[in-house]
Amino acid sequence: MDAGRSVPDEQVIFSDVLAAGGEERERRIDALVARMSLREKVNEMSGNSNMLKLLVMAVRYGIWTFDSGGCKRLGIPALRFTDGPRGVCLDHSTCFPVAMARGATWDPALQERVSSAIGVEARAQGATFYGGVCINLLRHPGWGRAQETFGEDPYHLGEMGVAAVRGAQKHLMACAKHYACNSIEESRFYVDVRVDERTLREVYLPHFRKCVDAGAASVMSAYNRVNGTYCGHHPHLLTEILKDEWGFKGIVMSDFVWGVRDGQEAANAGMDMEMPRRWRFGFGFKRKVARGLVDIEKVDDAARRIIRQKARFATVGDPAGYDGKQVASRRHTELALEVARKGTVLLKNESGALPLDRDAVRKVSVVGELAALPNIGDRGSSRVSPPYVVTPVQGIRDGAGKSVEVAYDNGHDLEFTRRKVAGSDAIVVVAGFTYKEEGEYISAMLRAGGDRMDLGLPEDQVELIRAMAAETDRCVVVLEGGSAVTTDPWDREVEAIVMAWYPGMEGGTALSEILFGDVNPGGRLPITFPESVSQLPFFDKRAKSIEYGYYHGYRHFDREGLEPSYAFGHGLSYTSFAYSDLVVRPAEIGAEGVLEVSATVTNSGSMSGDDVVQLYVSCPGSSVDRPVKELKGFERVTLGPGESTTVVMDVPASELAYYDVDRGSWVVEPAGYELLVGGSSRDSDLPLRASFRVK
Ligand code: BGC
Repeated sequence: MDAGRSVPDEQVIFSDVLAAGGEERERRIDALVARMSLREKVNEMSGNSNMLKLLVMAVRYGIWTFDSGGCKRLGIPALRFTDGPRGVCLDHSTCFPVAMARGATWDPALQERVSSAIGVEARAQGATFYGGVCINLLRHPGWGRAQETFGEDPYHLGEMGVAAVRGAQKHLMACAKHYACNSIEESRFYVDVRVDERTLREVYLPHFRKCVDAGAASVMSAYNRVNGTYCGHHPHLLTEILKDEWGFKGIVMSDFVWGVRDGQEAANAGMDMEMPRRWRFGFGFKRKVARGLVDIEKVDDAARRIIRQKARFATVGDPAGYDGKQVASRRHTELALEVARKGTVLLKNESGALPLDRDAVRKVSVVGELAALPNIGDRGSSRVSPPYVVTPVQGIRDGAGKSVEVAYDNGHDLEFTRRKVAGSDAIVVVAGFTYKEEGEYISAMLRAGGDRMDLGLPEDQVELIRAMAAETDRCVVVLEGGSAVTTDPWDREVEAIVMAWYPGMEGGTALSEILFGDVNPGGRLPITFPESVSQLPFFDKRAKSIEYGYYHGYRHFDREGLEPSYAFGHGLSYTSFAYSDLVVRPAEIGAEGVLEVSATVTNSGSMSGDDVVQLYVSCPGSSVDRPVKELKGFERVTLGPGESTTVVMDVPASELAYYDVDRGSWVVEPAGYELLVGGSSRDSDLPLRASFRVK
């Protein structure tokens, strides 16, 4: 890079930083920071939303960006932040299926395209900083914001999170959040998550590390405490692990409003930016710096990090620029449709209930309030207001064709509903949750969001399902929601269950295509659906303190020998798949080695379809306590009837390491390992097995 004009250090401005690359850029960043007054540095370190703006945004989120920093004197631009995980919060953007639905696609390349589209829409609306990469691990499916993340498994989360960072960062800075252990909503501002170091490293942090390695510009600290200390004040999390050990060069930003409780503690612990407004980095903060209570080196480091990322992203993006026509463009709404098709999970399908044959069915009844509701998820910081939403009933009407009568009833009056559905060849009941029952929780007054202590459907919906199941031998339940739903006691009474999640603005179209068999469902659960909450680790939405143990999700089910209703990785198809020819090379690898695993998958049915080949590893003779198996690879494939393909997956030995707390380091254990390949985390679905050794 041409370093531009030669410039004396005492005259460096932001454009001189931009003009240089590599070490010279770093040198100029130092020079620029040396020129900045304490006031200018602290200004970089804080959001500048005024109170009026915050009050308006509390009622109507996403009208404006949240801005921070910026210095005219030195030519430093401000950052303009927007959210969110399923699309841009700002006006009329594309609403994609929620992150959990995207997790169910098991398709990182698709996720990258989605995040890139979100990046385009964010830039087109003036944002330069995007906060929608939520990668908190789902420890318990009752978490109200489950829909914002990709699932329960650290490996799967890492792959999806990295794809999200890559996609968004083609256009703007991205922030991975909420670091760390943020997975209870209603007590998020105070709960103390007690977690031992090994669990933290192996279960709750690996996906953050992968996003850092992939170049995430920023990491947002969580509201909650970890082992007694607020995440925003946590030297171990922010400085020792993130910055020192992982070498993170980006910006640590606080979660909004309550993310910094004490400016001095936060800055000294490694917090670089308080959002969305200068509070704890405000009154008295500069005096504390002057008195040496806040380490000036921390302030300089924060300023350097912020300027470094601003410079890195100043030239990122489409050189042709962005315009409003790209927001909710046809291309993007079609992408939302593709994701809804790929993320829908067929949980159950008995007696060939699905797909519905347009030539054979004359009347389909669609029942339930949610069937006619634009139900796209949470209305907190992940809220998106798309220009339109295709509801289930609208999608089914549009897709049924002329020969099929589609009747709809909200199901409020069971007697009336029974009469209305009489003579149906199939009844589709749409049930589940809305933003009222789950999502970001601000206060009880808003009557929205929060956690689900009970994973079952509301009583009236259960009653409706059972009543409809009694009316037909083809009752299809479509579930909407951000996380697991317990399907007992009605599960056995219905023929088919489809998990649609919050399927975005084109959800109704995708659902209809799947019900009528135009699209073959290929989504797989990125979380475990338990039979009852009693199978799960302890969860309390008002917990002041809670223990996060080493086991949760399928690892917990495997260890305890529990049968879930629907396992992690599960999902049916209208076709069938067979696995063969597992080859693992070499049979022995070193701690730095990479295992090459290949397996053949064949579409053994008569319809084209997608499968997700899953690879799990176990270490039966380990010297430490270990999960029965852990996901270490996956690949989604599309196959025509009778077609086969060979999937190749690399497993680096480093992925098999455990964290040795005494040594304070990762250990790749010399031992024998077993490798299992198949179509879900259940043993019976993992027909291919092989052994290998690590030296
Ligand atoms: C949420 C964050 C979000 C921030 C800004 C907070 O309430 O917890 O996830 O990024 O608001 O939108």
